[in-house]
Amino acid sequence: MIFSVAIDGPAAAGKGTISKAVAAHFGFAHLDTGLLYRAVGAKVLAGASPVEAALSLDPGDLESDALRTPAVAQAASEVAVNPEVRAALTEFQRNFAVREGGAVLDGRDIGTVICPRAQAKLFVTASAECRADRRFKELQDKGMEVNAADVFADVIARDKRDTERATAPLVAAKDAHLIDTSDMTIAQAVAAAIAFVQSKLL
Ligand code: C5P
Repeated sequence: MIFSVAIDGPAAAGKGTISKAVAAHFGFAHLDTGLLYRAVGAKVLAGASPVEAALSLDPGDLESDALRTPAVAQAASEVAVNPEVRAALTEFQRNFAVREGGAVLDGRDIGTVICPRAQAKLFVTASAECRADRRFKELQDKGMEVNAADVFADVIARDKRDTERATAPLVAAKDAHLIDTSDMTIAQAVAAAIAFVQSKLL
């Protein structure tokens, strides 16, 4: 069975949690496509050229906890502006989307560019304040030294770069189902996403 679920939205809206839960519920594979851009960003911070880094990614590059830092997130959103970097990562994502048994991909351009024909598309969002607050707590829980104002500024800077870039900007696909998680618990957001995907599977 081929069934692709595209989940897009801005940083820290809850896409990751929702995507993992949807994948686990339906037994689908999950790809966090932000990790691809983070891995390229990390290689660039270590001195590589963006396009070479994107062309030479391997699965081991996606496993490091170091990809979760704010510095790597910013580097990821900078390399993500480059059309050649995006092109180098496209085929892997498209192949993943049509793997046998179903797939969930989360990112910024899944429903618009990577899988325009995905059977179920979700756009998960939340207010900038709410997203920055969640990201701040998440980084603190990981033991990182962070400051709330810096985290807020990082979220705003990434939103701006992601929505204003010329290639594959962050935008909801016309046929995406919108979930605003600002006033939802995780359980409510997950339940809404599962109910929507289920309605497309019938
Ligand atoms: O989702 P995450 O916050 O890990 O993504 C890091 C950065 O990678 C984003 O800010 C965005 O610039 C970029 N990205 C992208 N397209 C995707 C996934 C992530 O441009 N499909």
